[in-house]
Amino acid sequence: MGVAETVTNNVVLPNPRYEKTWDSIIVQPEIKDRLLRWAVLSLRMRAELPFEATALHGLVLLYGPPGTGKTTLARGLAQRLAPLMAKRKVRLIELNPHGLMSAEHGQSQQKVAELLTQHVPALADDGLPTVVLLDEVESMAVARSEASLSANPADVHRATDAVLTALDDIATRHPHLLVVATSNFTGALDAAFLSRADVAIEVPAPDAEAALAILSCVLRDMSAAFPALLDLAEDTGLKEVAGLLAGTDGRQIRKTVTEAMAARLETVQDPGRLTAGDLRQVAMRATSAKANVIGGHRAAV
Ligand SMILES: Nc1ncnc2c1ncn2[C@@H]1O[C@H](COP(=O)(O)OP(=O)(O)OP(=O)(O)O)[C@@H](O)[C@H]1O
Ligand SMILES: [Mg+2]
Repeated sequence: MGVAETVTNNVVLPNPRYEKTWDSIIVQPEIKDRLLRWAVLSLRMRAELPFEATALHGLVLLYGPPGTGKTTLARGLAQRLAPLMAKRKVRLIELNPHGLMSAEHGQSQQKVAELLTQHVPALADDGLPTVVLLDEVESMAVARSEASLSANPADVHRATDAVLTALDDIATRHPHLLVVATSNFTGALDAAFLSRADVAIEVPAPDAEAALAILSCVLRDMSAAFPALLDLAEDTGLKEVAGLLAGTDGRQIRKTVTEAMAARLETVQDPGRLTAGDLRQVAMRATSAKANVIGGHRAAV
């Protein structure tokens, strides 16, 4: 895989396509505020002062369970940042570096270095503030101390070194780049990588209140095509459904609505006929499936 192919998106924002991205993720307001504050602070401080003065790497880590909105938040952040920057524009570059990790023996390190220290800076050489989304960073920055060499080939370890060196290079030479890394787990991340992050922000699974907000947001969005769903979005029965879904990830909560529609031919033909009872049944199934998984884990321990 070539270095250029790992760039899956390169776009200048604001762009109407990203208008709803930031607001589509429902989390505690403090999580978004903190992310935004750190992003602005990092770009501002690093534009004005050398690394020696700020010790800021321009690296933000978002971590949490799968499907909690980390990738979406990172994209939305770029759009949200744009009006706060002097030129009112921000570039978003998305990387999918997985392919590099399976490069021929000895190639990963070289390709990671090329990607982060040459290719990405060249794409952003107009000097616009740039969010570099490094998704699922655990594939690159594997903890060298925890993983055995047999489980993680030496080449992957060298690639981790290359990531660290590249981050130091970005910190000092490219202050307009802000790397936003996402990860499903932090245990496997390299300690030296974690110590370079200016801030690590946890994005947890939604609680009951957030689950309720997600459900009614999905129903309101769908009411554009099926107006009857607007009433369901306000239905008091949703509260119980949300209670059952608390702790389930945001992706699953969104899918609950379509799953409930798929459960009856009547609601397939006319989704506007969906009821809180339909949603409750799917939520109960999801809860018992989760209990089985947890039970299975316990039995295995
Ligand atoms: N808190 C949330 N509020 C609303 N929607 C959410 C939330 N979390 C996730 N979603 C929805 O779930 C889907 C997946 O989100 P996203 O890909 O950003 O999650 P992620 O944390 O990056 O997942 P992964 O760890 O699997 O990569 C999106 O459609 C997103 O809108
Ligand atoms: Mg993701």
